[in-house]
Amino acid sequence: MFPLPLYPYTGRSSPHLLPPLCVDSMKISRGKLPLSVMAIVISAVALVGVIFTEDLRALTEEKEKPSNEDDTIDEDRITFDPNECSVMNGKWVFNSSRKPPYTDQTCPYVDRQVACTRNGRPDTDYLYWEWQLDDCNLPRFDAAAMLEKLRGKRLMFVGDSLQRGQWQSFVCLVQSQIPEEQKSMNRSRTLSVFRAKEYNATIEFYWAPFLIESNSDANVIIDTSRRILHVDSVSKHAQHWIGADILVFNTYVWWMTGHRIKSVWGSFANGDEGFEELDIHVAYRIGLKTWANWIDSNVNPNVTRVFFTTMSPTHLRSSDWNHKNGIKCYNETRPVMKRGHWGSGSDKRMMQVVASVIRRMKVPVALLNITQLSEHRIDGHSSVYTEAQGQMLTDKQKANPRYYADCIHWCLPGVPDTWNQLLYAYLLNEELNKDM
Ligand SMILES: *[C@@H]1O[C@H](CO)[C@@H](O)[C@H](O)[C@H]1NC(C)=O
Ligand SMILES: *[C@@H]1O[C@H](CO)[C@@H](O)[C@H](O)[C@H]1NC(C)=O
Ligand SMILES: *[C@@H]1O[C@H](CO)[C@@H](O)[C@H](O)[C@H]1NC(C)=O
Ligand SMILES: *[C@@H]1O[C@H](CO)[C@@H](O)[C@H](O)[C@H]1NC(C)=O
Ligand SMILES: *[C@@H]1O[C@H](CO)[C@@H](O)[C@H](O)[C@H]1NC(C)=O
Ligand SMILES: *[C@@H]1O[C@H](CO)[C@@H](O)[C@H](O)[C@H]1NC(C)=O
Repeated sequence: MFPLPLYPYTGRSSPHLLPPLCVDSMKISRGKLPLSVMAIVISAVALVGVIFTEDLRALTEEKEKPSNEDDTIDEDRITFDPNECSVMNGKWVFNSSRKPPYTDQTCPYVDRQVACTRNGRPDTDYLYWEWQLDDCNLPRFDAAAMLEKLRGKRLMFVGDSLQRGQWQSFVCLVQSQIPEEQKSMNRSRTLSVFRAKEYNATIEFYWAPFLIESNSDANVIIDTSRRILHVDSVSKHAQHWIGADILVFNTYVWWMTGHRIKSVWGSFANGDEGFEELDIHVAYRIGLKTWANWIDSNVNPNVTRVFFTTMSPTHLRSSDWNHKNGIKCYNETRPVMKRGHWGSGSDKRMMQVVASVIRRMKVPVALLNITQLSEHRIDGHSSVYTEAQGQMLTDKQKANPRYYADCIHWCLPGVPDTWNQLLYAYLLNEELNKDM
């Protein structure tokens, strides 16, 4: 079944999927939440079972309290090699001696949307978890080594607001290495560029939430039912990707607004007229193939390295982790430790589409498979420590987490730092630009 709770949060009531520049113009339509009514009914029914489940939860989690600090780096585990190591199989280990790599006060590039500490998030445990692979040692992100690797290069992240989070995380991870006068940031609606002058390197973000073109790109249409995808058109966006040395793409959550999505083909489209409603999996496949064809015809794999970040899990249904009286990810302060935990916000069929499209490409695309590791991190979202309509949530709004808690985006610092640790591990293993 389609994960119902996604509707209100990617739909007209969602303030969270917008680039900050577009936030001012949006209006939240309140009171259209039949689901919250449903949720109340469900929680009422579930109430009888609550005490029991809570006991069970306490029991199952007891042995996995943040106590695995005695885990030491296992010398038997090999150093990370993308061909030998699976990034999916691992566990989160609490490490109180870990020093978070930056804070949302020391890094000036963290958007208010995800600056949880600055926004008043009181708990801090979520900053101390490390993703430990079963078989391999994932190298720690070394900013100096990363910058050296990027010398003379353009690294570009392309995608939606989650990708923007990964980009900000990446910039924050390296920027403290660079003196003030040697770096600059230029943000605009579609393209944002961080420049490390001494390294002649840029770390860029290009906004294209579907990768392909739609009528809701630069000017986001809040009413999802009015969004129309141009499933066979990508060049308006793709022209900006030319010349990048490393491209990191994502697209997922914007497709998850219902069972079907309005689509047009350029060949017989008259603007946005004549759309067809396609099943989301079908539309996703066509859209990704359009993207893949462009990559295959325009990217020289000897010069450019291509990555794809898999879906970022949403945590809108606390029953997914047996917290029947929870409100989405609100108030969650610990990861779900159960191995292989998977929630209703991650659509495996969408994942299969990605896998099958990429498998058939000429240009090799490395998957940053972040879904499983992020799926555990119900504690990592910005929740009520965020903004709506370009304004910090008021106390009254914070008291209404069912409506306002953002369980899609991630606090920074936080989970996206681990995504970049993976990216770093992949890049470290590569001879970049062999031809140059
Ligand atoms: C915990 O973090 C510290 C500091 O980064 C590190 O030296 C240590 O190896 C980590 N412990 C584990 C178990 O990874
Ligand atoms: C800086 O990098 C660009 C490629 O991003 C390259 O074309 C240019 O020659 C480099 N400039 C210097 C001074 O190295
Ligand atoms: C910032 O980017 C915009 C658009 O990409 C460009 O027109 C402008 O010249 C840039 N400003 C600086 C200071 O580089
Ligand atoms: C990439 O490099 C290989 C080996 O150097 C060469 O045979 C091939 O033609 C190159 N491909 C392109 C598209 O330049
Ligand atoms: C959320 O956590 C706060 C602080 O621990 C607590 O006061 C509040 O009752 C919790 N709210 C819910 C709905 O669980
Ligand atoms: C990513 O990993 C999950 C398991 O964690 C797996 O089910 C999925 O197929 C992988 N995705 C791709 C695109 O390979």
